[in-house]
Amino acid sequence: MTVSFDRVAHIYDATRWSGIPVPVMEKILNAMKEGFRNCQSILDVGVGTGRFAQYFNESGFAVVGVDVSLSMMKQAQAKGVRDLVRADGHYLPFRDGSFDGSLMIHVLHLVKDWVWVVREVGRVTKNVLISEAGDIEGFSARQRYLELRAEMGYPLDRFNDAELGLRRLIRPKFVVPAGDYWTEVDADDEINSFESRKSSVMWDVPDDVHSAIMKRLRTEYGGKKLRRRDMPEVVGWDPAHLRAYKP
Ligand SMILES: C[S@@+](CC[C@H](N)C(=O)[O-])C[C@H]1O[C@@H](n2cnc3c(N)ncnc32)[C@H](O)[C@@H]1O
Repeated sequence: MTVSFDRVAHIYDATRWSGIPVPVMEKILNAMKEGFRNCQSILDVGVGTGRFAQYFNESGFAVVGVDVSLSMMKQAQAKGVRDLVRADGHYLPFRDGSFDGSLMIHVLHLVKDWVWVVREVGRVTKNVLISEAGDIEGFSARQRYLELRAEMGYPLDRFNDAELGLRRLIRPKFVVPAGDYWTEVDADDEINSFESRKSSVMWDVPDDVHSAIMKRLRTEYGGKKLRRRDMPEVVGWDPAHLRAYKP
């Protein structure tokens, strides 16, 4: 099972970059760069549109991106990321220790067997795996959507805790706090943006269930202004710990 991002490749950057304050983004990128200080080659697993690969490419690293979605990688290519391979994170087509460092951002909640993917990334990486694993507090329409789909008989059968879950399960080599900020969220805007099912947690839900969830979200939060706290962190792991991980 693979969750293809082909359907959102054209809108991905517009929906995922918005909302992160520029100084926070700078802090995230600087902390990642510092984490890669002993690295030359970097593998970006689930490179997507090259949001991060572009930066590291332009910063002088030799970046190779892998993804299952050609449409997403086409966007990365347009940003100058040249070394792109269509491959599944469960079976990376590289020898052991091929890369000094790896990046894997917002991918683990999509894969069939996250433990397998983590071990596989550990296998091809020599020094460090880096990700962004921020916690949030307060209103999250996405989180409520997940609760409602489970309540209606369609629980998400994947590792929704993703990179944040990995941070809790495998002791990191380093954690760098990159920000702590509150945002006022217009609940109607956020709920309306779900009409196009922009998030992957909505893609496998039948139409009637999706409509019922949207109705519940509007009943619960319609017309409200709510607050959300974001606490992004840059996290690095020792690949040896990833290879050795047993759930
Ligand atoms: C949420 S996007 C994140 C993209 C990028 N890392 C970023 O932060 O902008 C997830 C990406 O992972 C890719 N993906 C999903 N399952 C995958 C798998 N099993 N192997 C490789 N890539 C995968 C999707 O196609 C998508 O491009």
